[in-house]
Amino acid sequence: DWTPASFIEETIANIRKQVGSDKVICALSGGVDSTVTARLIHQAIGDQLLCVFVDNGLLRKNEFEEVLSMYRDVLKLPVRGVDRRALFMKRLHGVSDPEKKRKIIGNTFIDVFDEEVADDKSFTWLAQGTLYPDVIESVSFKGPSATIKSHHNVGGLPEKMNLKLLEPMRELFKDEVRAVGRTLGIPDSFINRHPFPGPGLGIRVLGALSEEKLDLLREADAIFIQGLRESGLYDKVWQALVVLLPVQSVGVMGDERTYEFTVALRAVTSVDGMTADWAQLPWDFLAGISNRIINEVKGINRVVYDVSSKPPATIEWE
Ligand code: XMP
Repeated sequence: DWTPASFIEETIANIRKQVGSDKVICALSGGVDSTVTARLIHQAIGDQLLCVFVDNGLLRKNEFEEVLSMYRDVLKLPVRGVDRRALFMKRLHGVSDPEKKRKIIGNTFIDVFDEEVADDKSFTWLAQGTLYPDVIESVSFKGPSATIKSHHNVGGLPEKMNLKLLEPMRELFKDEVRAVGRTLGIPDSFINRHPFPGPGLGIRVLGALSEEKLDLLREADAIFIQGLRESGLYDKVWQALVVLLPVQSVGVMGDERTYEFTVALRAVTSVDGMTADWAQLPWDFLAGISNRIINEVKGINRVVYDVSSKPPATIEWE
């Protein structure tokens, strides 16, 4: 029978066998999956592991600092924090196609990891928190136009990469990962975080990115997520997010005409992210969030709520 404890024991033994005396670099994204992966590998091989947490400029408000200090101070992971905001923004400049953005972000991560270990040849593995649904959605759902979305932490990329992939959770679903994480002593507050995609806010600012748009989205997202937490709704939904639409519309503020951006709020219930229903959040809660975003975030004058389920809509908009 599968239990978190038996999975951990078996996986630690496998990692030791697979890796031997080589070194492993683990890509931390700030999410649950990569964090559990790092913790597992750290228990298996100790300081043969180096974790790298990249600030790509696509993280949420204060996320880089907060998560980095949790990695260091709470989980005691051997982690290097690197600021590559400028590199990501440069490569993404003017790019609006969602798949191109995903590929650029994924490839840039790989380049950053390669570069971090370039002068130490004993690093031969790259560890990632790939889960079973990532594998399925990236590789197998091939219709006439192939992959639905290239989840960038899966397959495809390594041809140009010098490192071998270590993905100890490839066969797990999200609820199993959370159970493993809890058993490994990761705090509940972290384990219960909603999923957050590798390409981050890069696929939540629809179309071409700019610093200004990313900042608007960061502010709106912080208001929505904080509101969910304060209302006790955060743990009742599987994932919640804000999308900045590439649309401006007319509004009125006092006596002034405004012409500003729209954000869409999205919250879903789900078991594994493969299918999802839009969450029936209370109207008065949504009204409060809408007011706060429009009043507090200068540059946004309209808020809409996404009432689409997956399928046919996906959870993220890109
Ligand atoms: P979609 O939008 O395909 O998303 O319905 C399903 C779940 O996967 C997350 N997601 C990603 N996770 N790398 C990730 O690690 C990615 O590239 C990626 N794209 C989507 C999404 O947030 C949702 O939880």
